[in-house]
Amino acid sequence: MLAPVSIVGIGKCVPERVVTNDELARYVETSDEWISKRTGIRARHVAVEETAIDLAISAAKSALAMSCESPESVGVIVACTITAEELTPSLAGRVQRALNIPSCAAMDVSAGCTGFVYALVSAASLMDTLNRDVAIVVASEVMTKYCDWTDRSTCVLFGDGAGAVVLKRSEIAHLLHPILSATPDVDDVIVVKKEARSTPFTGEVESKRESIQMKGADVFTYAVGVLENTLGELSVRCGEKPIDKIVPHQANEKIIDFVIRTMKLRREQFFVNIANYANTSSASIPIALCDAWESGWLNAGDRVAIAGFGSGLTSGGAVIDWTISNKKENN
Ligand code: ACO
Repeated sequence: MLAPVSIVGIGKCVPERVVTNDELARYVETSDEWISKRTGIRARHVAVEETAIDLAISAAKSALAMSCESPESVGVIVACTITAEELTPSLAGRVQRALNIPSCAAMDVSAGCTGFVYALVSAASLMDTLNRDVAIVVASEVMTKYCDWTDRSTCVLFGDGAGAVVLKRSEIAHLLHPILSATPDVDDVIVVKKEARSTPFTGEVESKRESIQMKGADVFTYAVGVLENTLGELSVRCGEKPIDKIVPHQANEKIIDFVIRTMKLRREQFFVNIANYANTSSASIPIALCDAWESGWLNAGDRVAIAGFGSGLTSGGAVIDWTISNKKENN
């Protein structure tokens, strides 16, 4: 069961360095025209000094400050990442330390680009199981550090960033209809292999670089299928109170356009910010939610669906009855 919760704080943090497609074309044999036409991407933020841990801490701090909850009140932290610098402690543990949260449940989930949906549902479930009132959910990725910069079909697609929300127990449930799913990746369509290490027992093992290996066309087919299924199921589950707005994982604008056409949805229902960020994996949905709210596109009273898909192969979604009033009205 999910605890009845609302989102009471949201924040994001992206690296300072912005790399446009034109600049990228200086290092990789590509062009703004090729990238933007096929993906909608125009630029991405690239971590130079920043780590995934730094970005997560900053996004979580902003979300907690906005929520006006104290560090002591936080009972659960769920972080998601596939690119954090440390295997242990968890990213959640690093966020806990930086935010001076004295005692809470803290753990990471790994579900590729669906990570935020998995983390959000996990946090609300843990709030119910452990009877806690406040949770931080944070997604942070430095995808550009895992790109093979000689593989132009993949490296142009990714960017870095983090997004976070604070959940608070509420009278009425505002996080609804969770869907978490996975299907075996039998063809290894998205894989990042860990660097192999030699041990006294294995003998010399050839060291391979850690980089994203992706079969783009297969990912496209998978993505449109699960996005349609997730949105279709959420729509049925919502019944008489329909979904107003949709914030999907920002992998490729063409995936979103395809689903709009096949499901006969309206373009204005979708928030799309991939032009400025590229694909930030699990961070894309919270960054998009944050931008949607900051720009005034998302307002209190909106029923918004989130939908993710990614390596695993994972997929998932949920409905959020948005309760934070328009930022411009707040100021
Ligand atoms: N710049 C210029 N040319 C390029 C580039 C590039 N960056 N990359 C590939 N090409 C060339 C190829 O070499 C090929 O040339 P050829 O015809 O002479 O052989 C041509 O462009 C077409 O290549 P394709 O790979 O067939 O390009 P396609 O039109 O299929 O688009 C893309 C590739 C954009 C990756 C597409 O398959 C896609 O969007 N797939 C979904 C992938 C995705 O969204 N992944 C997200 C990560 S995982 C996730 O978030 C779930």
